[in-house]
Amino acid sequence: MTGPAHCPAPFPPQLQEELDQLFVWRRDVRHFHTEPLPEPVLDHLLRTACMAPSVGLSEPWRFVRVDNPHRRAAIRRNFLHCNALALEGRSGEDAQRYATLKLAGLDDAPHHIAVFCDTNPEQGRGLGRSTMPQTTTWSAVMAIHTLWLAATARGIGVGWVSILDPHEAISTLSINPHWQFLAYLCVGYPAEPSDTPELERRGWERRNPARRRWLHR
Ligand SMILES: Cc1cc2nc3c(=O)[nH]c(=O)nc-3n(C[C@H](O)[C@H](O)[C@H](O)COP(=O)(O)O)c2cc1C
Repeated sequence: MTGPAHCPAPFPPQLQEELDQLFVWRRDVRHFHTEPLPEPVLDHLLRTACMAPSVGLSEPWRFVRVDNPHRRAAIRRNFLHCNALALEGRSGEDAQRYATLKLAGLDDAPHHIAVFCDTNPEQGRGLGRSTMPQTTTWSAVMAIHTLWLAATARGIGVGWVSILDPHEAISTLSINPHWQFLAYLCVGYPAEPSDTPELERRGWERRNPARRRWLHR
């Protein structure tokens, strides 16, 4: 990936405003068109994800494209099982409302990407991890968010599926058992772009004013 010869900081006001719009319109997507993305676009998203910051420059993220239909079917069974267990753990109106939610776009999304963290990578030589070893995980999550934003900027939707048994997912995908399973991403063109989270649109939960999250000491 080639960048500009100089950093245009601060970015022009129009670009700043457009970037703000990007944050507003980034959504977790569960409804997709089945049309696949052009390969160069998908490749670009993955390379952009790798520009995320990482502890000690360890780059611990590992992206696994899941194309094999048998593996996809196994992940789908994994999801259905875990989602059924999650429903069983609820009762009454709470269970009824949970049952109406669509919590994965596994059937329609043309691309499936599992994301792992190598929690003890050689790269980075341990820098920054001695007191907080979880920082490799956080680094990998930042790569997911970077991919998510880059996708949104191109009109591409990403849906994070976490309702999965991670050990089973690792076995299904024949992955090194020492890698930590972080996310199963459904990727494709969104069927219904929105500036409001789907859980809010379905009355499950609402965003809170940001200032409530700011504490002063
Ligand atoms: C760590 C993580 C796990 C998530 N797991 C799921 C999931 O299993 N199924 C789902 O439908 N959404 C999942 N989401 C998406 C959230 O529900 C979503 O981000 C939240 O409702 C806010 O909506 P927005 O991302 O569109 O702003 C997950 C998001 C994160 C960050």
